[in-house]
Amino acid sequence: MAYPPTAAPDPRVYAARRARLAQRMKHGIAIVPTAPERTRNRDSHYPYRFDSYFFYLTGFVEPNAVLVLIAGAQPRSVLFCRDKDKEREIWDGFRYGPDAARSVFGFDEAYNIAELDARMPAFLADQPQLGCHLGSDEAWDTRVLGWLNGVRMQVRAGIAAPEAITDVHALLDDMRLIKDAHELDTMRRAAQISTAAHQRAMRATAPGRGEHEIEAELLHEFRRGGAQSPAYTSIVAGGANACVLHYVQNDAVLKAGDLLLIDAGCELDGYASDITRTFPVNGKYSAAQREVYEIVLAAQAAAIAEVSPGAEWNAPHDAAVRVLVRGMIDLGLCKGSVDAVIESGDYRRFYMHRTGHWLGLDVHDAGDYKRDGQWRKLEPGMVLTVEPGCYIQAGDGVPAQYANIGVRIEDDVAVTATGNEVLTQAAPKTVADIEALMRV
Ligand code: GLY
Ligand code: MN
Ligand code: MN
Repeated sequence: MAYPPTAAPDPRVYAARRARLAQRMKHGIAIVPTAPERTRNRDSHYPYRFDSYFFYLTGFVEPNAVLVLIAGAQPRSVLFCRDKDKEREIWDGFRYGPDAARSVFGFDEAYNIAELDARMPAFLADQPQLGCHLGSDEAWDTRVLGWLNGVRMQVRAGIAAPEAITDVHALLDDMRLIKDAHELDTMRRAAQISTAAHQRAMRATAPGRGEHEIEAELLHEFRRGGAQSPAYTSIVAGGANACVLHYVQNDAVLKAGDLLLIDAGCELDGYASDITRTFPVNGKYSAAQREVYEIVLAAQAAAIAEVSPGAEWNAPHDAAVRVLVRGMIDLGLCKGSVDAVIESGDYRRFYMHRTGHWLGLDVHDAGDYKRDGQWRKLEPGMVLTVEPGCYIQAGDGVPAQYANIGVRIEDDVAVTATGNEVLTQAAPKTVADIEALMRV
């Protein structure tokens, strides 16, 4: 398939988010650093990935950068980033440098990152509040406290240090939970690439092929579509491997008569997609596989039907569990009434995870699920996954025909004003559609 070209990022999108954060803070200063580069071994680095909060507010993808946002009557935003460096740019490639970064990305001021320690005490002076995130990186915490102490030392010169330290992530989590038009557009495109990757994987699957070969098909389509990387390590799990929830070895040979569970999604321009499909290695579900599969598919449909504005976060999960439990009783996996099996939790032997999570810049995205002890209500612009499953490990009185069948079906769903939009709808998931695709 052909992919639409990626539009250049519009700096106004990020400026609007900074303005909203400043408004929510009311007064004070926020400091948001991007992620550090990490060494893999000796002088090799892991592929660089910016910090999601920093990117959300800047669109700036270079390492070694910090955003300083000053709230109040006239909000200002300041970027610290790497200076231009002819020598380093020959080795590592282009870098904006403060001047170009300021004009291209719309900051009010920009400075060389080497000046951060020297300049921060002045930025912090007389600010009533410091919004930052502490507790994740000891070196960063020490640095921030150093700046604070630098201001406190000047108290006899009449300069006040921030009295309140607040977690800027808490405000940002809430903002990130509701996706704007730019985010939804990016997530639709990420979903489209991942959908094509799953279709490619289904076509490539055959007995005797390796899980790693199918993983390679996914990665090929991700990059071909312009995605920068997978959003998380792909799970390509044949047969009983599907019953290991975080199986990532992907090194077994696929067997006729087994199912293949693939949980894989790309990251495009910072945004994750997250799809699971489970299909037969030889292109045709056995009777027992189909029984389990149809139960999970019905559970997913029931869950997706609950995704609409005003519904509680937990409503899709409750709906999925009810359908799954009915199915488990019908298959002889659980005994008793639906209510009794839900009450006892016996179904958790076969369904041990929850039915979804927020999705966005992070695959398990920012935002809380409960507020004041109550499940959060869904609102337009929220994006979540709906991913029920059924994992039947052999033993424990399991009927032989269902042993080692593991099924999960996962889609990415945006809450709209009237209901929902399944961003990954085009990835085949009915038995008929999957078998038809695998026949060609
Ligand atoms: N692939 C991660 C998840 O489904 O939560
Ligand atoms: Mn997921
Ligand atoms: Mn997943």
